[in-house]
Amino acid sequence: MTKIFICEKIDPVCPEMFRAAGFEVEVRPGLEPEQLKAAVAGCEGLVVRSAVKVTAELMDAADRLKVVGRAGAGLDTIDVEAAKARGITVLNTPGQNAGAVAELVLGLMLALARRLVPAHVALAAGRWEKNRLSGFGFELGAKTLGLVGFGAVGRRVAALARGFNMEVLVYDPLVADGEVTAAGARPSGLTELLAAADFLSLHLPLTSETRNLISREVIFNGLKPGGVLINCARGGLVDEAALAEALAGGRLAGAGLDVFEKEPPNADHPLLALENVVVTPHLGASTAESQVNVARSIAEQMIEHLK
Ligand SMILES: NC(=O)c1ccc[n+]([C@@H]2O[C@H](COP(=O)([O-])OP(=O)(O)OC[C@H]3O[C@@H](n4cnc5c(N)ncnc54)[C@H](O)[C@@H]3O)[C@@H](O)[C@H]2O)c1
Repeated sequence: MTKIFICEKIDPVCPEMFRAAGFEVEVRPGLEPEQLKAAVAGCEGLVVRSAVKVTAELMDAADRLKVVGRAGAGLDTIDVEAAKARGITVLNTPGQNAGAVAELVLGLMLALARRLVPAHVALAAGRWEKNRLSGFGFELGAKTLGLVGFGAVGRRVAALARGFNMEVLVYDPLVADGEVTAAGARPSGLTELLAAADFLSLHLPLTSETRNLISREVIFNGLKPGGVLINCARGGLVDEAALAEALAGGRLAGAGLDVFEKEPPNADHPLLALENVVVTPHLGASTAESQVNVARSIAEQMIEHLK
């Protein structure tokens, strides 16, 4: 019987679908790397989420592996080249969590614009800081949102932002201008977008080309002064040390970050100590709806592939 190994926590719909399709399924989240290598021997399908790195070594330990399924969008946790070299198919679930990520982006933007976190923290501690905090608020309406990357998430963000009456600029070299204008947004060059965006939101994959896209130079000389950066894509896209300096010095007004170069970041990470930063622990896809969507989608695709 074809065996599927699920090595991370996933909605139960995923193993149920495999079993209904006649596969044997083992669900064992949380194994140490060495235990995992022993456990994957003999499986033909491997399901991962974000935590497990699918290395060449792990694939070699899975001697019968035909397909790796990532219940999520990015593929940076999987050595895709090594998979290709071994004839192993890699599947993922792009778009299935786009609504969840997009809503978090808007949530971070609103939280930063209205200082929701410091306001809550102060009041919960018994301090009515109306005077101190009322000087900071601003509105999203009529502000410019720059989107770098216009795939599933970027498009959803654009649609939500249009509802807030924002002007949306898009830089995505792989998307035709007509698709951008049809979404009520405006195509732009990257340099122009970075300089014009009151809010800049990143929605592109992390690759060797996009690593450090928002570099120290960009942060201090390319971004609009007083702008807000949102990163719900991948940590390696942004120079975190430079970002912290720009936020502390007032060069940028705020940052909303769901992802970090190292996850979790160290407790003394300079970005965690700033009042104009809102952070979440990689929760972009973490809604009830998107958990079911990715679990169902990866099972569907893997079943079709293996059958
Ligand atoms: N925080 C989270 O939990 C979470 C959840 C889902 C996705 N993500 C991240 O968000 C990213 C976007 O997700 P998605 O579902 O929209 O992916 P997607 O593949 O649908 O879209 C990515 C877009 O980026 C564009 N792109 C590629 N290189 C680019 C470049 N150099 N400059 C500008 N655009 C470029 C592509 O053309 C594509 O349109 C993912 O790659 C992933 O890293 C994070």
